[in-house]
Amino acid sequence: MAIRIGFIGVGGIAGSHLSRLSQIKEARITALTDVVKEKTAKVAKEYQANAYTDYKEMLDQEKLDAVFICLPPFAHGDIEIELAQREIPFFIEKPVNLYLEKAKEVEKIVKEKKLITSVGYVLRYMDIVEKARDFLKDKKIALILGRYFGEVPGAGKGWYSRKEKSGGQVVEQATHIVDSMRYLAGDIDSLYAQGFKGINKLENYNVEDASIVAMHFKNGALGSLISNWLLSGYQPMLEIITQGIQIQYSVTSLKIISKNKKEEFLVSNNYAALEDEIFIEAVKNNDPSRIKSDYSDGLKTLEVTLVANESMEKKEIISL
Ligand SMILES: NC(=O)c1ccc[n+]([C@@H]2O[C@H](COP(=O)([O-])OP(=O)(O)OC[C@H]3O[C@@H](n4cnc5c(N)ncnc54)[C@H](O)[C@@H]3O)[C@@H](O)[C@H]2O)c1
Repeated sequence: MAIRIGFIGVGGIAGSHLSRLSQIKEARITALTDVVKEKTAKVAKEYQANAYTDYKEMLDQEKLDAVFICLPPFAHGDIEIELAQREIPFFIEKPVNLYLEKAKEVEKIVKEKKLITSVGYVLRYMDIVEKARDFLKDKKIALILGRYFGEVPGAGKGWYSRKEKSGGQVVEQATHIVDSMRYLAGDIDSLYAQGFKGINKLENYNVEDASIVAMHFKNGALGSLISNWLLSGYQPMLEIITQGIQIQYSVTSLKIISKNKKEEFLVSNNYAALEDEIFIEAVKNNDPSRIKSDYSDGLKTLEVTLVANESMEKKEIISL
């Protein structure tokens, strides 16, 4: 049985999902919605799908088995509630919202309906991550250091560089690293953050240029996240310290370093394709067991990043 898929939002990341889904035999790209009519029409033609500018009209007109939500953070909330009420499983790009209360409202109905959901924390699907988790399972983590170094997404022209639309660099981008930290070291129970502004002089820019977040994990580990939008490209990294062993990983490799041994494992899977394949398989078999981040899990990562923003504002240690 083909899985009929709808899209809400057909910008940058939607293009990547569409291209990957077009390679999956069971996936049928059926309908697309974007508020920009010309964009939807162009993409719909490319994928021989039906085009809409109103998602409710798409949901009324089409019989969809799943929807990909590829919207900027500020557009989240009511759309997910509508999909959940209609019992349509969804894949949602990170971050899942900008407001915790709204995300909890979505979570409530998602749970009531036992809906299959998947959140785009794509780094969880790298093969080295499971290797790292396996390696760490009987070890006590003392320190977990994350860094997200990169450029201002969209060259500062779009919604990414507006705090009220994207949430800023921790909520919108470094969220991938926060999520990886949670996936490896568990939940965070308190944090303190500081932001830095004043170097980027872009028009339409009101977010931090750099930030630090000091974290305390429930299991006692200490974490530190350093982010900036002052460089070029995208350089995420994690480092974990446990007794006599240092683990470093990036989006290309995992290194396990001890006094007498240094091992390196290269990322060898197409993890972005895997993320989409697993979601389609989950919908097809009505079995979410291989999905690595569902809506509730994505909400926990969101909470950490929103609390980091709050701490930057209040200059206080905040408990989650
Ligand atoms: N997982 C990843 O690695 C990854 C990579 C890139 C982007 N993303 C995430 O994907 C999301 C979207 O990013 P993007 O770069 O594709 O943004 P984008 O601006 O390129 O695309 C967003 C699209 O949504 C449309 N849109 C906005 N509001 C809408 C609404 N109410 N209804 C329908 N369409 C609407 C816009 O017209 C635009 O076409 C962001 O949250 C971003 O963080 C994730």
